Amino acid sequence: MGFDLEAIRKEFPILSRQIDGSPLIYLDSGNTSQKPRAVIDAMSNFLETSYAPINRSSYRLAGEATEAFEASRRAVARLINANSADEIIFTKNATESLNLIVQSWGRANLSEGDVVVLTHMEHHANIVPWQMLVAALGIEIRWVPLTARGQLDLTDLDQLLAGAKVFSFTAMSNVLGTITPVAKLCQAAHDAGALAIVDACQYVPHNVTDVQAWDADFVAFSSHKMCGPSGIGMLWGRMELLDAMPPFLGGGNMIDTVTLNGFTTAPVPAKFEAGTPPITEAVGLHAAIEFLEQLGLADIRRHEMDLTRYALDTLQGRFGDDITIYGPDNVEVRGGVLSFAFRDLHPHDVSQVLDERNVCVRAGHHCAKPLMKALGVQSTTRASLYIYNGTDDVDALVDALDGATDIFGF
Ligand code: ALA
Repeated sequence: MGFDLEAIRKEFPILSRQIDGSPLIYLDSGNTSQKPRAVIDAMSNFLETSYAPINRSSYRLAGEATEAFEASRRAVARLINANSADEIIFTKNATESLNLIVQSWGRANLSEGDVVVLTHMEHHANIVPWQMLVAALGIEIRWVPLTARGQLDLTDLDQLLAGAKVFSFTAMSNVLGTITPVAKLCQAAHDAGALAIVDACQYVPHNVTDVQAWDADFVAFSSHKMCGPSGIGMLWGRMELLDAMPPFLGGGNMIDTVTLNGFTTAPVPAKFEAGTPPITEAVGLHAAIEFLEQLGLADIRRHEMDLTRYALDTLQGRFGDDITIYGPDNVEVRGGVLSFAFRDLHPHDVSQVLDERNVCVRAGHHCAKPLMKALGVQSTTRASLYIYNGTDDVDALVDALDGATDIFGF
């Protein structure tokens, strides 16, 4: 297909939808992405022709479904350059992946006074599970602060990491778009004897990802932000860590044997996949991965860098001091996420006015309240870009913001 924007848009049926006679301007992919025809078809074909339980029944249909599920796991491993597909755990979403690490590895390996280092730009999914361990075990959390331009301030990183057991951080902020130096942070964690855990939810859909080059220990990400369905997330972990960890949820599929006196666990990854997993969703995810691979993750990144540059320049050029866009100005270290304050308008008012022109953005704290506090705001308006967005979408956002100016009388 190559990176042909019009051809790509045609692959997304929802983008031909109109509301009140006008097209959709979808700028909320940081929240969740739209789905291409290939994903929709893969899931409906599977449901129509091949749906069956996996790992449980010996008839041929069940074998086919099991193979489809495992083929998706192999595709995920390929996408992030995992050493083995067995290192990929399917979960419900990235939030569950992070909770799995905390509740399984964390409870088995941390105790009172142990230090976990997080950053001020984490999503609540990489904060609250650790705070649950503060309450349960008495661990301590230390925080990496931010620079004025929304990057990690690494000045005191070595001191923060001294004696720490874990450094858990985002690869790309869902609010600022900031791309963090993941390999360098993993190295710093390991130098301090800590595990490196990466929330790559906002990163994997937009970039070439290589967990081995990062030298991470765990990486969490989700399907629904990368053109796949919701309801399935992924955790990659080093096999030696996964192997040593206790199960997270108990039930069917995750056991080897069960007696009245106890149980033994199945090998990884089944050990962490209790119950019937998201089977059809895995099939959709596989189609999404193939779709992104056909476009090329490096080309996707290039497109989004160009578009982010255009968006930063156009918004700042049009509105000057009336707009504050948070995060780095350098698109080499920034993804296509644009959180901003517009004049003194409340973000919810801004998003409502934008919605009248079918411009879909997110307004609020973006599940990152500590970051809002660091920025000195309650909330922001956030436009987030993806493969189907072009300069016309950015222009529509600018025009709609002009409309807000008219409505609120500036
Ligand atoms: N984490 C998602 C977002 O940033 C839901 O909008």
